Amino acid sequence: MTHRPSQDQAPIRSLDPKYYLDPTIHDLVRDKLYYRTWQYACHQSQIPEPGCYLSFDIMDEGLFIARQRDGSVRCFYNVCQHRAHTMVSGSGKTSVISCPYHAWTYELDGRLRAAPGTKSMSNFDKSDICLSEVKVENFLGFLFVNLDPDSASMDQTFPGLRDDILAHCPDIEQRVFAHEHTAPEFCNWMIAVENYNECYHCKVVHPTFASGVIDPSSYNIHADEQGARVLRHTADANRGESAWYDTSGAGYKSFFFWPAFSLQCYPSGLVNTYHWRPEDVNNTTVHRGWFSRDGLIDDSLQKVIDLDRDTTFAEDLVLVKQVHRGLGSRGYRPGPLVLNPAEGIDSEHSIAALHTWLKAAVEA
Ligand code: FES
Ligand SMILES: [Fe+2]
Repeated sequence: MTHRPSQDQAPIRSLDPKYYLDPTIHDLVRDKLYYRTWQYACHQSQIPEPGCYLSFDIMDEGLFIARQRDGSVRCFYNVCQHRAHTMVSGSGKTSVISCPYHAWTYELDGRLRAAPGTKSMSNFDKSDICLSEVKVENFLGFLFVNLDPDSASMDQTFPGLRDDILAHCPDIEQRVFAHEHTAPEFCNWMIAVENYNECYHCKVVHPTFASGVIDPSSYNIHADEQGARVLRHTADANRGESAWYDTSGAGYKSFFFWPAFSLQCYPSGLVNTYHWRPEDVNNTTVHRGWFSRDGLIDDSLQKVIDLDRDTTFAEDLVLVKQVHRGLGSRGYRPGPLVLNPAEGIDSEHSIAALHTWLKAAVEA
């Protein structure tokens, strides 16, 4: 999909602020987008053994994902089938899932195992009761869930993406989770996602990224040619003396999976991720994940993690907060997107694509 209006058309304008600020639209985004698309849960290495589980939220729904005795992974709504208490919090390892309210216990596969005091009830059949399950897929080691039982698979949703990532990072499935940091973003999630998916601001705001990671003159973001909701970021590595890391090998590539996950592959084989979780219409949590070949963080990786968190990551937190505030200003009228027909770092055609996708979801 390309967004290249001819020069005699009126410019494409940025989205109406209601898409970022209106709680009614946010509810539509929740129901029609977040509850119908593939959402990142965690990496397979974060629940390595049977009984390992991890809880997380997708909008208003609590979920948990658990490694089964046979090594497979299943995901459930994090709600007890007795009187709706939350089942688990955080992450851990267990042989059964036990509700903290009245101690009903469930097998790892969601079947009710025991419910205290029910033996005297002739009409109580525990085999009728099971936690509600959610679809889960392992995509190159990254576990995604979809609350829509009728959703297409990851490969159907993002055709060609798996092969494209493997071509660039052949051993990606051997990566092991090493570190994650999170931060509150005082903005609607879409502002954070847009900010990630343009590098028009990189030279202005991210001098460290623009001089230490990529060669800005080569940066490009391209919407999938076949219409899949994927944005591919490509750049040559910055091979100057200011480079943060080993820049031998192929260039920098990032893959953004609509609506809220991105995977970055660096020339050295370094892999990191972003995912965004909306808390409410005005607040988002950004998660920055780091992966290494052994799950360990050596000195050079630690330096990169710290430098990224203290520069690019921190710089973006300030930007998105200010944009959120500005979108609520009576003095703001949505401005034209900068669309360079040749694309490149100074073009916002990726923003136009995101706007199209958001409108399509809300108006469906
Ligand atoms: S709500 Fe879970 S045991 Fe009662
Ligand atoms: Fe940025």
